[in-house]
Amino acid sequence: MSCCGSGAMAPNTIETIATAPFDGQKPGTSGLRKSVGVFQQPHYSENFIQSGLTAGLGDKLKGASLAVGGDGRFFCKEAAQLIIKIAAANGVSKVVIGQNGILSTPACSHIIRKRQLCGGFILTASHNPGGPKGDFGIKYNIENGGPAPEAITNEIYEISKSISEYKIVPNLKVDLEKLGTYKYKICGSEFTVEVIDSTADYVEFMKTIFDFTTIKKYLQSQKVLFNAMSGVTGPYLRKIFVEEMGLSHDCCLNCDPLPDFGGKHPDPNLTYAKDLVDIMEEGKHDFAAAFDGDGDRNMILGHKAFFVTPCDSLAVLAANLDCIPYFKENGVKGFARSMPTSEAVDKVAQLAGKECYQVPTGWKFFGNLMDAGKINLCGEESFGTGSDHIREKDGIWAALAWLSVLANSGKSVKDLLFDHWTVYGRNFFTRYDYENVSSDAGDKMMELLTKLIEDPKTKSMTFSDPTGKSYKMSHLDNFEYKDPIDGSISKNQGIRFLFEDGSRIIYRLSGTGSSGATIRIYVEGYEKYANPQFYYQDAQEVLKPLVTIALRTSKLKELTGREEPTVIT
Ligand code: G6P
Ligand code: ZN
Repeated sequence: MSCCGSGAMAPNTIETIATAPFDGQKPGTSGLRKSVGVFQQPHYSENFIQSGLTAGLGDKLKGASLAVGGDGRFFCKEAAQLIIKIAAANGVSKVVIGQNGILSTPACSHIIRKRQLCGGFILTASHNPGGPKGDFGIKYNIENGGPAPEAITNEIYEISKSISEYKIVPNLKVDLEKLGTYKYKICGSEFTVEVIDSTADYVEFMKTIFDFTTIKKYLQSQKVLFNAMSGVTGPYLRKIFVEEMGLSHDCCLNCDPLPDFGGKHPDPNLTYAKDLVDIMEEGKHDFAAAFDGDGDRNMILGHKAFFVTPCDSLAVLAANLDCIPYFKENGVKGFARSMPTSEAVDKVAQLAGKECYQVPTGWKFFGNLMDAGKINLCGEESFGTGSDHIREKDGIWAALAWLSVLANSGKSVKDLLFDHWTVYGRNFFTRYDYENVSSDAGDKMMELLTKLIEDPKTKSMTFSDPTGKSYKMSHLDNFEYKDPIDGSISKNQGIRFLFEDGSRIIYRLSGTGSSGATIRIYVEGYEKYANPQFYYQDAQEVLKPLVTIALRTSKLKELTGREEPTVIT
């Protein structure tokens, strides 16, 4: 069926295409992520885009405005053109898109907010590998610039299960290489596509948040490195640190975006950013930061690769926000962290007399708290740090925040951490990931743990490791969150063993994998030493007893056949 056509398909004709539902179009922790081949199936991406538009915009679909941008991975350009065609057919009036379809996730969030758009599509599978055999993803963001909340993602899924047709303008093709505003007539209505510079708005915004002059001056005495991991942040980093701050090009590693990220895993952690860790270990640099494929994650390293856990990064920033102009002007109401993230930031909140919220894993849960003005800074153990300047986590923002704090304190990264622990105590933290185990084994482990938390005997148990160190249970549950703003309830967000001394063991299945299951075990032990030298101990050593208890209790080895985790952070 077509509209406005005359005989053979006229230019910009709206076609209604019959389709049938695909299984499994349920958005996970952060949008729909699958291997590229899945998205390339005829109608697969179209179905999801149509479901996203219908659920995301509802009766505001006609005349709506949208942002579109992605991390440049394989299939981004094709998906961007599809979104334009389907949006136009659905009566959307304007699409703002980054040049060549490129926008980092934080930049896209900013564009939605700054230009007051109704929502947007972000094309990325974040830190998952890319290329024809890698992963792709589509995420719908709402008008506050943040990921759609569960009410919308559930509706997307519901629609995807019964979809029977989608609308498309098959002949519409926009030249995404050239900046400019392009106008089309679609069935008598005007449809505009604005192709914008991918970095300009974001870089300007950063200049209003941070004191670039102070950071620039500080950097003259420092040797620093930024690793874009061949993801989207390269051009942003060059603009900020080379053009604005005058650093040499050598400070930007892997800053040419590649559709397959050079065949690597664009995830900034000690395993996948090992090349950066190796350079830092040589001791020639003072500071380094790495970012993931779409630019929302960050890893911070100090001299000789001193590693700042994302949990500590959040706490240190929370304790030092007043040196950043944005927070000086707007004040700081409170903080938030995801449930598995260590309680280090809670300690800062307590001392400062501020609120600290605990939400389920997923940045979407911070949005309501920010919109209601309850929090200004939040973070997750999964290398996400951000503030209410946008509604996504923001890797480059985090690096600039760290540089601001370092410039202000005059301390090295390591000394800053040490002094922080001396005041607040240290929440030793580690996460063990078992990637790509069978879904069956993952489910079995969670079933076993569920039985355990339901057994009244477990409540009064004391767990001991072979060395005799023991932990008395104080509370255990499957974490449930009631959003304090809209009252919505999210159940089954992770099994928690909370011990009397403040230690915690948490188990959950990842919601971002694209096949099989990924088991995550989070282990945390709080220590406040009389002798501050103890703060330098290796987290793996300190947490050994708890890790042993965590593995034994879950029967992880027996159920998965895995001896070692894939990644330890
Ligand atoms: C994405 C989300 C984060 C989340 C992370 C890990 O980066 O934006 O909010 O913490 O994935 O999620 P997972 O479900 O894999 O543990
Ligand atoms: Zn990401």
